[in-house]
Amino acid sequence: MPKDENRMQPERFPADFLWGVATAAYQIEGAWNVDGKGESIWDRFAHTPGKVRGGDNGDLACDSYHRFSEDVALVKAMGLDSYRYSIAWPRVQPGGRGGPNAKGLDYYRRLTDCVLEAGLRPLVTLYHWDLPQELEDAGGWAQRDTAARFGDYADLVAAALGDRVRHWIVLNEPKTFTSTGYWLGVHAPGRRDARDFLRATHVANLAQGHGFRALKAHRADCEIGSAFDVAPMYPQSDSAADAAAAERWHRFLNLWFLHPALHGTYPDGVLPVDEIDALLGFLPGDEVTVRADFDFVGLNYYSPWLVRHAPGGSDIPGLDCIGEWAKGRGRLPQTDIGWDIDANGFRDILMRMREHTGHLPIEISECGAAFNTGPGDDGQIDDQVRIDFLRQHLKAMATAMAEGVPVRAFHQWSLLDNFEWAEGYSQRFGIVHVDFERSQARTLKASGRWFAEVAAANAVA
Ligand code: NOJ
Repeated sequence: MPKDENRMQPERFPADFLWGVATAAYQIEGAWNVDGKGESIWDRFAHTPGKVRGGDNGDLACDSYHRFSEDVALVKAMGLDSYRYSIAWPRVQPGGRGGPNAKGLDYYRRLTDCVLEAGLRPLVTLYHWDLPQELEDAGGWAQRDTAARFGDYADLVAAALGDRVRHWIVLNEPKTFTSTGYWLGVHAPGRRDARDFLRATHVANLAQGHGFRALKAHRADCEIGSAFDVAPMYPQSDSAADAAAAERWHRFLNLWFLHPALHGTYPDGVLPVDEIDALLGFLPGDEVTVRADFDFVGLNYYSPWLVRHAPGGSDIPGLDCIGEWAKGRGRLPQTDIGWDIDANGFRDILMRMREHTGHLPIEISECGAAFNTGPGDDGQIDDQVRIDFLRQHLKAMATAMAEGVPVRAFHQWSLLDNFEWAEGYSQRFGIVHVDFERSQARTLKASGRWFAEVAAANAVA
């Protein structure tokens, strides 16, 4: 069907479908050392010269610590249903151990009450990458004890917020925070050691299990998932070696944190069977600890990956692949951050993940695009490119749903332009523009108005 004709057919969503937006604490809150908050690995990393583009950091970010009611009002004004936000671990437990920081917990109580009063569903992420620096000093995610510390933290948060929050995301993008932080060194804490990275993946899985049980212990009727960043792994060439590498990378990057949660084991065909336990630090009994019988699965999608076999690329058998964001594959257009725009990839990965998630409901916990469209002469931000991106991806999601993938929610990343990790403020993902230079003023972009119309119609045309 020609594209324009396709556009004329509105895709309708189920009556109980949830429309939402997502943010994360370090990316928007600021107030990095206010009211007893401890230092996180992102505070330390961003304060280290040369780590983040332009020397940017999250000290102020969108100042949402002080402006959260304005942010929540924007979500309400768009008529959305769900607001996903995260808790900064060092704000509520400054050193990652011991008793809570009352002021930190109070902030999240006030924020959550505000979300509830706005008639929105809170979807709260326990870990969106800001590990207390003191735990990193003790070994960080490569250190087994961090998993137990995370369990205690989850317990403390559940005790404080469990009466208000029913929907939780335990970990955000465990594959990305372990690989970029411990293997590639481009995100906090900036370590570069493949063996630390592998151990970190297992510790994150142990933490996921502990966190899951801590939340359930406080409230049996809560619904828990994690947010896994997934992407179709397309081989870079027709060679059998690249095809095998792409399949290995699918099992590794897309399934490494889901499979242990659901089955207690790691996907096979990635690490050698006789070495995997030693490489991960897997001990007897861990097959029980890593279990988390999720109520739903969160999936984040941005762009496909291209994968090729890279013999000699690592001394660890199985890791000898190179995979990266697809850039320029088939001359597809790209977002401003340089990732291919490929809505079919969204449909492909939803169909593929469904083979593993089975009957579990899926929430799109993130999907969005970096486009740096600024205000025009009239002060308005006409980001038609983001509207096109979202329309294509929502249509692809609708196709996957028609083919049987049980998606129940879509969260656009992100509500606000914010601190984009190693890219600093150079990449804008928001449907609300933030004036970082001067006033911190928020302005709804054309995409925000469009997204509100989609939510109101419960359909995308
Ligand atoms: C996924 C991460 O969860 C989020 O923090 C990040 O800003 C977006 N991807 C865009 O890169």
